[in-house]
Amino acid sequence: MAVRENAYAPYSDFRVGAAVRAGERIYTGANVENASYGLTICAERAAVFAAVAAGERRIEAVAIVTDTPEPTPPCGACRQVLREFGLRIPIVSVTVGGRRAEYTLDELLPESFGPDNLR
Ligand code: THU
Repeated sequence: MAVRENAYAPYSDFRVGAAVRAGERIYTGANVENASYGLTICAERAAVFAAVAAGERRIEAVAIVTDTPEPTPPCGACRQVLREFGLRIPIVSVTVGGRRAEYTLDELLPESFGPDNLR
């Protein structure tokens, strides 16, 4: 909820906060948009990259928060990035108003391509 306040979303005005738990720590991220549009980074990926930059290699859980009527599921690009660091990751998405949805990454991204496919 708090990191969502730092989202930089002047174009969409759609502010997203995310947190990942890894190695007993919490890493947060917010979406950062860009005037080029295409260089926008989602909150979930920002949080994953913060965890990886801190040395983590396994994502244990993800939280997402948006101010929407219904909880927001992670976009396809973020699903694939998460999959790199875990397969059955629990994901909880909540709204500022208190609605909540739970998923697992393998149900959001079945039959996924991952590191093992390169062996
Ligand atoms: N966004 C996220 O940060 N996470 C999602 O799961 C969906 C979309 C951002 C990207 C963009 O800044 C804005 O929300 C609208 O798509």
